[in-house]
Amino acid sequence: MTTYEELMNMAKEASKNAYSPYSKFSVGACVLTESGNTYKGCNFENASYGLCICAERNAVGTAIANGDREIKAIAIYSPNVDDCTPCGACRQVIYEFKAADGTDVITEVMGELVVHTIDELLPGGFSL
Ligand code: THU
Repeated sequence: MTTYEELMNMAKEASKNAYSPYSKFSVGACVLTESGNTYKGCNFENASYGLCICAERNAVGTAIANGDREIKAIAIYSPNVDDCTPCGACRQVIYEFKAADGTDVITEVMGELVVHTIDELLPGGFSL
């Protein structure tokens, strides 16, 4: 069983692979699915700025590509800021793949883990 501390360590590892020459803002994320698997992602930017992909959506997309759709938790880390919560677009994407018991969103503040939930971060998220 992966602990949230281990999940955050994987997000930190992923942040080292960030490709962010334009913003100089590195982000790593790691998804934990109900099946117990983990999937890392980092942000990667493009000279055509609007094509930048966030770490969270990269990690979620990798989980989906592996047939794992129930997100129990996602850890997010940036060496640039504390409490790196997901942007609005990523909140909606995480919301789509919420586990039955909800999804925890783990960040770090001054070296301590903080557990948010996707329902707190995106009240009234859109679903069909
Ligand atoms: N970014 C993420 O990867 N996740 C977030 O939650 C916020 C922003 C990325 C996008 C872009 O590459 C850089 O950080 C600056 O916005």
